[in-house]
Amino acid sequence: MGTERVQKVCVIGASGKLGQYLVRHALDRGYEVVGVCRERSVPKLAALADRITLVPGPTNDPEVIRRAVAGCDAVLTVLVPWGVQQYASGTAQAVLDHARPGARLVFSCGWHISRDGRDTYTRTFRAGLRIAALLGRLLRYVEIDDQVEACRRVFASGTRWTVVRGSTLEEGESQGLPVWSRHVGDPVLASDRTRRVDFALFMVEALADDSLIQEAPAIVGCRTPSALAHA
Ligand SMILES: NC(=O)c1ccc[n+]([C@@H]2O[C@H](COP(=O)([O-])OP(=O)(O)OC[C@H]3O[C@@H](n4cnc5c(N)ncnc54)[C@H](OP(=O)(O)O)[C@@H]3O)[C@@H](O)[C@H]2O)c1
Repeated sequence: MGTERVQKVCVIGASGKLGQYLVRHALDRGYEVVGVCRERSVPKLAALADRITLVPGPTNDPEVIRRAVAGCDAVLTVLVPWGVQQYASGTAQAVLDHARPGARLVFSCGWHISRDGRDTYTRTFRAGLRIAALLGRLLRYVEIDDQVEACRRVFASGTRWTVVRGSTLEEGESQGLPVWSRHVGDPVLASDRTRRVDFALFMVEALADDSLIQEAPAIVGCRTPSALAHA
């Protein structure tokens, strides 16, 4: 369990689907919540506006992040590689630079991120990733390599980080805390499916679990066939 009590949490990317679940889980645990999202997305958080402090702005803007994380014990960051503007690495760097020393930092990403190169991927997964990276770059829509760079910087930092690597996501009611493995390719992960609400649950629970510090858990839904078979 956590050795440092978390009271105030910043959610970076609070207006997205994962971000809104993160905000709700954090509020349910009684944390004070600060959210960061793009100016145009502020209305998406209307239902939560009176329960959180919002700092509108791009998440890769160091000044926006500096203001948002001030006084926070923990930062939950949704790392997204949209556009060709180093959005993910800029966001990660701003968090690493401005979160208070000793703050608990939890980042989201996908299974394609590998910490130690010992993950094994199916041929279909690798082909899909290559196509997405190529198309994304050509259309200037997404920079998958930049999410890799963002995580490289997090792994190299001496901070109290956890990088949670999500499988394919789906919507639906919570099924409970996902199970995890250090390496993609582990049979427990074979079902490759997690409810988004439970991805957020895992990230928020990680705040109070020091055994996940400097780990990059790859997660899968706890009620999926592979999780049940290998529990
Ligand atoms: N989707 C999957 O199947 C999947 C699988 C594995 C892992 N993941 C990981 O899960 C996390 C959440 O992914 P998600 O797909 O579920 O998305 P999501 O929660 O809906 O979040 C998307 C985020 O990206 C922002 N965004 C969208 N377009 C943008 C743009 N052009 N420029 C800057 N920001 C933009 C959104 O902000 P606004 O609200 O301002 O639009 C929002 O914060 C990510 O870390 C992803 O790598 C996803």
